[in-house]
Parts: sequence; structure tokens; C-alpha cells
Amino acid sequence: MTDEERAILIGAASRARQHAHAPYSHFRVGAALRANSGRIFTGCNVENSTFGLTLCAERVAVFKALSEGERGFDAVAVVADTERLTPPCGACRQILWEFCRDSEVILSNFRGQIIVRRMSDLLPDAFDASFL
Ligand code: THU
Repeated sequence: MTDEERAILIGAASRARQHAHAPYSHFRVGAALRANSGRIFTGCNVENSTFGLTLCAERVAVFKALSEGERGFDAVAVVADTERLTPPCGACRQILWEFCRDSEVILSNFRGQIIVRRMSDLLPDAFDASFL
């Protein structure tokens, strides 16, 4: 993926973050996925007063895309306003692995920091349907 393509995905995730519903943690996250079709799907975290029902930005983006018929993705960006770049949580890593496999994962903040990982770095020895 080129730097320009990464910047587009980071911009989309940053804009989605503005819609975060995070009145409990005040921790706002945006995510953006690039589908194999080229379309970009975004998500933000959506919290609930029953805390365990909270959905992370990454899963919202994945489920939005899936519900519109997309299945494969090649990159995901995650944006939060943190000094240490925010990575996907464990649950999101498993969901991302199911549909994004070894995609590029781009982490960014609002201080111009960007790091690029692969899903296989974040979730080594992943469980998936190949074991069933
Ligand atoms: N959160 C995300 O949306 N994505 C991440 O990668 C990390 C955590 C959200 C969930 C919750 O609303 C808040 O951040 C604090 O955990």
C-alpha cells in the first residue's frame, strides 16, 4: 500500500472517530477498512451503559462492510488520540483475522505518528476455519 493510500484510510478513520459514542471511557476510536472492491468502510466505537455490550470501532467497520456484501479486505487503519498508538483489542484481532487475514494494519494518532503492522504480527498462530 502506498503512503498516499494509507493517508486516505487514516483520514477516513479520523473522520469516523468524530462519531464515537464513548461517554463512559471518553476513549474515542475510529477505524477504516479497505475492501477488495476498493470501497472504504468506517466505524467508531459505540459504548453502552451495560459496558460489556460496547462495540469497538474495528468491529463496527467490519460488520458494516459485511452487511453490504463485502467479504475480503486488504488494509485497516485505527486512529485514536493517544501517544502510544492504539492497536486493535484481542477480540477485534480475531474478527479481523476472519475477514482480513494477513492485511496491513495502520495505527495512527493526531501527532503525525504512523506505524504499519500486519495482522500476523498482531495475532500469531491465529485460530481460523482451516483448523475445523
Ligand atoms: N476501543 C476500540 O474501539 N478499539 C480499540 O482498538 C481499542 C478499544 C474502544 C472500546 C471502548 O469503547 C473504548 O475504546 C475503551 O476500551
